[in-house]
Amino acid sequence: MARTRLVAGNWKMHGSRETIRALLDAIVAVVDAAGAQCAICPPFPYLAQVAERLRGTAIAWGAQNVAEHAQGAYTGEVSAAMLAEFGCRYVIVGHSERRQLYGETDAQVAAKFAAARKAGLTPILCVGETLAERDAGRTTEVVARQLGAVAFTAGVVAYEPVWAIGTGRNATPEQAQEVHAFLRERLPRDTPILYGGSVKPQNAAAIFAMPDVDGGLIGGASLVAADFLAILRAAAGAKR
Ligand code: 13P
Repeated sequence: MARTRLVAGNWKMHGSRETIRALLDAIVAVVDAAGAQCAICPPFPYLAQVAERLRGTAIAWGAQNVAEHAQGAYTGEVSAAMLAEFGCRYVIVGHSERRQLYGETDAQVAAKFAAARKAGLTPILCVGETLAERDAGRTTEVVARQLGAVAFTAGVVAYEPVWAIGTGRNATPEQAQEVHAFLRERLPRDTPILYGGSVKPQNAAAIFAMPDVDGGLIGGASLVAADFLAILRAAAGAKR
């Protein structure tokens, strides 16, 4: 059976009610999910707006973060069960921005992954090396450590090299394939492995054509409807 193809938009901390309304209108009007699944991960305050707009469409939605705890005195946190109650499907865990800017450890990421699974959400686990780690020849060691910290039973993995995120410098298709193949050997057989890091309409088809690349986790380009739709089409049409 072919692995699921998935393109997920990570809007990070961008948008307003008005820009999100316009973006969703443009995406919903055109999206043809045949061949690739589509998901959108907005900031927390807009989840309800997005969920409402996407109801009855083939587009799923997800959160960008989740608490590792089930409930309790954790001011500012949002639990996996709360997200699930509103129909959330995906949650991004271990994004490099969370690891680098908010000090999330492998152990915390593992706990978030487990909390998401327990609530029935599909975690999108992000792994990826910094430029210094790549230059030191430590790429596979780093992603193996990040992956190995998690009790990965089921979910999605996103390989996001830190040096490619928001830089306009995407990994080459061959660089992505090399790491994806390495991850593939360490994951349940049908796990979708997404690539993320400066995916644009111009480079998406070549990256998605790689045998172990099952789609993308898209940052900047997911905020532009025409670009996001072009990337989705590239994933749906990719031959491999
Ligand atoms: P960019 O597509 O903006 O490089 O961001 C990638 C990313 O971090 C998605 O989670």
